[in-house]
Amino acid sequence: MGEKNLRFDTLVIHGAQRPDEWKSATLSPIYQTASHRFHTAEELSEVFAGKKKGFIYQRLRNPTNETLEERLALLEGGMEAVVTGSGMAAITVALLAILRAGDELVTGNSLFMSTYLLFNNVFTKFGIKVKFVESSRIEEWENAVSEKTKALFVETIGNPKMDVPDLKAIAEIARKNRAPLVVDSTLATPYLVRPFELGAHVVVHSTTKYLNGHGAAVGGVVIDSGTFDWPEDKYPDFAVFKERAGKRAYIDKVWREIHINFGTTQSPFQSFLTLIGLDTLALRMERHQKNAIALAEFLEKHPKVKWVNFPGLPSSPHHETAKRQFEGKGYGALLTFGLEDEKACFEFIRNLKLVYHLANLGDCKTLVIHPWSSQYVSFTEEDRYKNGISPDLVRVSVGIEAIEDIVEDFDQALAKV
Ligand SMILES: Cc1ncc(COP(=O)(O)O)c(C=O)c1O
Repeated sequence: MGEKNLRFDTLVIHGAQRPDEWKSATLSPIYQTASHRFHTAEELSEVFAGKKKGFIYQRLRNPTNETLEERLALLEGGMEAVVTGSGMAAITVALLAILRAGDELVTGNSLFMSTYLLFNNVFTKFGIKVKFVESSRIEEWENAVSEKTKALFVETIGNPKMDVPDLKAIAEIARKNRAPLVVDSTLATPYLVRPFELGAHVVVHSTTKYLNGHGAAVGGVVIDSGTFDWPEDKYPDFAVFKERAGKRAYIDKVWREIHINFGTTQSPFQSFLTLIGLDTLALRMERHQKNAIALAEFLEKHPKVKWVNFPGLPSSPHHETAKRQFEGKGYGALLTFGLEDEKACFEFIRNLKLVYHLANLGDCKTLVIHPWSSQYVSFTEEDRYKNGISPDLVRVSVGIEAIEDIVEDFDQALAKV
């Protein structure tokens, strides 16, 4: 049976499985080696020249990483992928393969903290102009793009603003403007939505989150749809890559020009852990969705809770878009809620017994954090508000434990606030 015909829940387990090449092992071996031996100089030369496929050195390519790349490309319905040492590395290489000084990046303003800092403080230093737009306001995207726009960037579910932009509409603006749409789909995963089916051109993930699912390994991936044609009048840098790699021009540029030279390599052990996590992605995501809705409903009714921000609640302005875009499969499993003030948030966190307080999300365990005083502590107050953070806000990554236990832990901690 061709892998492409397998249903998603099967593909997460069987995609890119090669037991016959792995001495019949059912899990990919961890090819823990810095380099690979060649018998002849002729052969090494051919592999270096790209005339023959092969593995040379871990920073370039690695067989365990390749299995993860193939499986993730299959899950997203993409053409080819490159795994990277972290989600931030994936975002960096995905965009640096496209942008150069003088170019414009148009991005949704609902971004993970480090992505915001990368765009706002780092890219701008290298002469890349970054225009921030309200992610879910299509007219703002339309007004911001110009011939100088070389890429559009958006998060499928904004972390932590919890907004759900209309990917199809943004992809259409990108297409008309002859620029690729790069989507960070970390919070949705291909379980909820496959952005290529809505017209996006590149997908990135922090695999650290739901794809791994156990908080066991940091990692990232860039996946190319192969559907953007990189017109040479607008992307002259691509000419040589198009000549060498044809439809693979973008992913070849990501790999050959940026990933290898920046050294944004994933370790094979990290890839192995992510591959194991992927096996249960579909099952985990199903439970994450149910638990997130149940916890959001509980919080919305709780007298100590001032507000709840979760696209799964009809009170969210993004509810209808999320319902349509995620086809009723769910709304993600990240939510934020408000207590009286910062002190109340600290008191709530101090009193949790089961739920972990830490800086991560997408783990099978339920996690909370107070972003105002932690990840965003070095931001100015104005920038914190701009990024959707307020002192009264607690962020929750809802896990897959029994929902009764999660609710009971929240209930007893809220009682002490
Ligand atoms: C939406 C999103 N993108 C990217 C990242 C960065 O991923 P990593 O920590 O693997 O570099 C994160 C991390 O929380 C995230 O939430």
